[in-house]
Amino acid sequence: MSAKYETRGDVAVISLDNPPVNGLGYVTRVGIAEGLDKALADPAVKAIVVTGAGKAFSGGADIREFGSPKSTAEPNLLSLIAALEASTKPTVAAVHSVAMGGGLELALGCHYRVAAAGAQIALPEVKIGLIPGAGGTQRLPRVLGVETALNMIVSGEPVKSELLAKQPGQKLFDKIVEGDVVDTAVAYAREKADVRPMPLVRNLKVEYPNADAYFQFARNTVGAMSRNFPAPLKCIDAVAASTKLKFDDGMKVEREIFMALMVTPESKALRHLFMAERAASKIADVPADTPLRNINKIAVIGAGTMGGGIAMNFLNAGILVVMLEMKQDALDKGIGIMRKNYEAQVKKGKLKQDKLDERMGLLSTTLKYDDLKDTDLVIEAVFEDMGVKEQVFKTLDEVMKPGAILASNTSTLDLDKIASFTKRPEDVIGMHFFSPANVMKLLEVVRGKKTAKDVLATVMALGKKIKKTCVVSGVTDGFIGNRMIEQYSRQAGFLLEEGATPEQVDKAMEKFGMAMGPFRMGDLAGNDVGWYIRKRRYVEKPDIRYSKTADLLCELGRFGQKTGAGWYDYVPGKRDAMPSKVVTDMIEKHRADLGITARKIPDEEIVHRLVYALVNEGAKIVDEGIAQRASDVDMVYITGYGFPMHRGGPMNYADTQGLFNVVQAMKRFAANPLDDAGFWKPAPLLARLAPEGKSFS
Ligand code: NAI
Repeated sequence: MSAKYETRGDVAVISLDNPPVNGLGYVTRVGIAEGLDKALADPAVKAIVVTGAGKAFSGGADIREFGSPKSTAEPNLLSLIAALEASTKPTVAAVHSVAMGGGLELALGCHYRVAAAGAQIALPEVKIGLIPGAGGTQRLPRVLGVETALNMIVSGEPVKSELLAKQPGQKLFDKIVEGDVVDTAVAYAREKADVRPMPLVRNLKVEYPNADAYFQFARNTVGAMSRNFPAPLKCIDAVAASTKLKFDDGMKVEREIFMALMVTPESKALRHLFMAERAASKIADVPADTPLRNINKIAVIGAGTMGGGIAMNFLNAGILVVMLEMKQDALDKGIGIMRKNYEAQVKKGKLKQDKLDERMGLLSTTLKYDDLKDTDLVIEAVFEDMGVKEQVFKTLDEVMKPGAILASNTSTLDLDKIASFTKRPEDVIGMHFFSPANVMKLLEVVRGKKTAKDVLATVMALGKKIKKTCVVSGVTDGFIGNRMIEQYSRQAGFLLEEGATPEQVDKAMEKFGMAMGPFRMGDLAGNDVGWYIRKRRYVEKPDIRYSKTADLLCELGRFGQKTGAGWYDYVPGKRDAMPSKVVTDMIEKHRADLGITARKIPDEEIVHRLVYALVNEGAKIVDEGIAQRASDVDMVYITGYGFPMHRGGPMNYADTQGLFNVVQAMKRFAANPLDDAGFWKPAPLLARLAPEGKSFS
């Protein structure tokens, strides 16, 4: 049973016991219900305390059960709460650490609530595209007032118990405790043992004059912020019901909204990502208890675009950093940019001046490799050139202490080759950050053929410490993300040749939800980067067909925002992309040279050609074992490439379309003589799953 039962004199204590966060899965619910029955049947018991064992009161429903018969099997959360309310002996929730979602709803079903100071209180359902579904939207406004409750429900953000307890007129907590919350709750239960009638949250009135005006204001604000997601506005509808309807009718409204949201693609996508994020940190052959190497001080080589951002991640996490460059002026320039970045945060009020000083105080600089001797991990971020990498890694091999981890931030070079420059390839790993490295969530952790398991485990843990989403990638050209983006870019090029404009393609993709279409993205990242890569890649693989438009653009020196012109024109100092006559002429001339008559390409075709290009390559990457699972590919695209959350990532999007339909579309694209038939040959994994009606997940 996932709940413990004990008696302390005349008080029964039921403790949820389902580590790590006492999720309210079926077995836990049964445990609570049985504990309650036992307490009610025992004449010696006068009152009941409900609490959580270990590190949480309760983190809420078990979302793995969603959609399965287990989630509604009796006792479901609603009937459990009803049983607590109906208890003929007073019930006291002893809340501590974390009370979220269903956990908080359970506490709201008790007659009294005693909370430890510092407990995190939240109804976070909106983050998985839902509203609270076990009375949260009806009971929380009754104890905290409409505005506080709505803020919590719409944002899903946790609030500390003692802050909530300070709210004038609040009825959420009867007591805030600094010491042992269960001891206090037991004493409190004893105190209330004979008090009748017992208070119920459902019987409280929600009083809110001017409710309509307030909800209208809330709808305007929330509607503007939650474009692609239906749940936030629905939170308002549900809370509004609590002010207008009788409790039981409000509960019906909540239930209807909850059930309707459960089947939306948006909620499914968010739930998929919630699980995907947790799955990404698991590595099949590396046990969770693998001993980690100690990382107290790290080194960064190269103070360029990436080196500075990478260093900031560690400084932010309180880790000592030493930066190495070839020349003092490069070092000064790099450090200057880092300081400016921090100063900008101070100006915006996002960082305190003393924090800036503290962080910069953790940083030292050097021109000598000797100064790296006491570091536990080094991240190389020098020029993307195998010769330079060779020289750096040979030197590192000589100077770094035994057991130090040697990481490379290379985005395209062969990590195994880099490892071979050392006599300790087991200590070499890829840490592929994304630009700007201090902002972007994604960290591709590249596992070389010889990378030791403890090195991998250590870097995954370190990545978490610096608040990155880590996804493991095997060694392949471009790793997971950039190998896929190459296919996306190739399709984008074909679309231009066939008749689309950069604006049309970008608009279609942005409407689909991408943070930026491919051409605006190219202008931001620098079109020369891809140019350089294509020169290397397509010289090695001359039979690969790709559109030369991007090369022609670079030949004009139009590298993007940094040169004031790219696929678009830019006014100096501004980032607004303006359609360019030069580019239109260039594309039209190229089309004429190829003898192509432009056609109008529908937006849906644009979206599907670009997204399915990602999907097909993603399927190969999963099949080859480069990515551990399809959901890892989704995490890469959500956290590193601005893929829309409400689509759940490219692989999840393909699943929602149905893999059979994806393959059918690919067949249509292959029949287009201007496209590349070979390009659209379904990846083996896709070809296997589609006819069986299966999905990537
Ligand atoms: P960058 O050109 O801005 O910076 C490179 C820095 O390394 C320069 O400051 C240079 O002085 C220094 N450097 C060169 N050789 C050195 C040596 N032997 N010893 C010490 N310092 C040396 O280049 P960026 O963009 O920062 O790229 C660095 C690495 O990060 C490359 O491997 C690149 O592929 C990778 N990367 C770049 C991304 C980007 O968006 N720029 C994204 C992800 C990875």
